[in-house]
Amino acid sequence: MQHTYPSAGGLTVVPYPGSETRLLRLGGGAETACEYCDSGGYRPIGAVAELADAVERSGLRGRGGAGFPFAVKVNGVRAASRPAAAVPPAGCTETVVVANGEEGEPASFKDRWLLRNRPHLVLDGLRLAAALVRARRGYVYLSDPESERSVLSALRELGGTVPGGPELVVVRVDPGYVAGEETAAVQAINGGRAVPTDKPPRPYEAGVAGLPTLVSNVETLANLPFLERWGADAYRAAGTALSPGTFLSTVTAAHRAPVLYELPYGLPVTDLLALHGIPADSVRGALVGGYFTGLLDSTFTGLTLDHETLRRAGSGLGCGALAVLTEECPVAVAAAVLNYFDRENAGQCGSCFNGTAAMAAATTALAQGRAAADDLDRLRRWSTVLRGRGACGALDAACNTAASLLDRFPQEVATHLGNSCADCAITPATDRAPYRVETEALL
Ligand SMILES: Cc1cc2nc3c(=O)[nH]c(=O)nc-3n(C[C@H](O)[C@H](O)[C@H](O)COP(=O)(O)O)c2cc1C
Ligand code: SF4
Repeated sequence: MQHTYPSAGGLTVVPYPGSETRLLRLGGGAETACEYCDSGGYRPIGAVAELADAVERSGLRGRGGAGFPFAVKVNGVRAASRPAAAVPPAGCTETVVVANGEEGEPASFKDRWLLRNRPHLVLDGLRLAAALVRARRGYVYLSDPESERSVLSALRELGGTVPGGPELVVVRVDPGYVAGEETAAVQAINGGRAVPTDKPPRPYEAGVAGLPTLVSNVETLANLPFLERWGADAYRAAGTALSPGTFLSTVTAAHRAPVLYELPYGLPVTDLLALHGIPADSVRGALVGGYFTGLLDSTFTGLTLDHETLRRAGSGLGCGALAVLTEECPVAVAAAVLNYFDRENAGQCGSCFNGTAAMAAATTALAQGRAAADDLDRLRRWSTVLRGRGACGALDAACNTAASLLDRFPQEVATHLGNSCADCAITPATDRAPYRVETEALL
């Protein structure tokens, strides 16, 4: 039987039936420090080498988008910190940890849910990450005022600092798709604009105040207390060999309230659709992992939800968000997503600024039945030649959207040459972010 739980902020949360919850907390409002400690939180940190070993063996992967192995990142920061550790600059920490809770992805609400409802779990994870990289300063980076209030209130409960943790600062920026990119986070914390910078250096080499900086998604960090307490084998008890553990997934679909699930990696898509009440044969496609990886067609229903399977399918699990297309027209969805990228790109790189605008205009013309065959040729060319040309991945995301529309929906694209379709009228307008989770409404 499916159990659903309303939570602070109006979003319903659902654990996968029969699977333990590691990240979701069911019922009640924001977890207090006492409640968190009573359930085993903020345990004294034992030998850091043991924790590092558990992290390594767990196979924990980042939840911010790329699914990058957390242990590799930790090792990178530790290696980069050695010279600074020998001669620490006066008044500076040797390394820095940033808990990235900005969550620029419109179709996702998991990081804000964690920050609003389980601030102590995130702070405990940050404390453990700081121990791993020997950081004496940590930042919680976010844009949601409610999340900021929750974290500051959690810190007040603790008297200003996390037990045995680093000095902590909460930094709030204006929300934006690129504001959560790691170099944007570092630049904003350093006092600049929350827009991406050129790489190298990457934050693990030189980040906040020029120090080696671990930037990790808040959900990634929220896995550390479980891992520290129960060990790598327990962590691996859920999920697949290459995508171990559970993950938070914001699921949106037309005419249904968004739901935040905690799912074991490797779950068949059909199981999730059944849980969400969507008949598999009504699925036209999906935006998997949020806007970043583009569209999948109805073959999505034959896949499982793990990094390796989705990568093989030419997609990716990204931040775990799933927007399921049923009656919506994929051409109109692609046009709306590309227009969103056009509004949200940082306007720093000519290829991104101009290329995203051109791809948005071409798909909008297609959705409105105004495009000709050579517009499609140009769209195809842009989606290929512009890849990798921006300072951050946002231009690649726009290329993914255009290319996936052309590759996976040739029939629908052909139908739109010279015609708009009836379904375009019921799909998102191009001036809105489709499937954006406002905690109560979508589309
Ligand atoms: C355009 C763009 C936007 C991003 N936005 C976010 C974001 O909102 N939150 C986030 O955690 N990571 C975001 N990322 C990924 C971060 O750059 C970084 O890889 C991540 O925070 C690292 O955390 P993880 O290893 O725990 O996943 C974004 C990346 C790109 C290219
Ligand atoms: S690629 Fe686009 S979004 Fe990224 S920094 Fe350049 S202009 Fe900004």
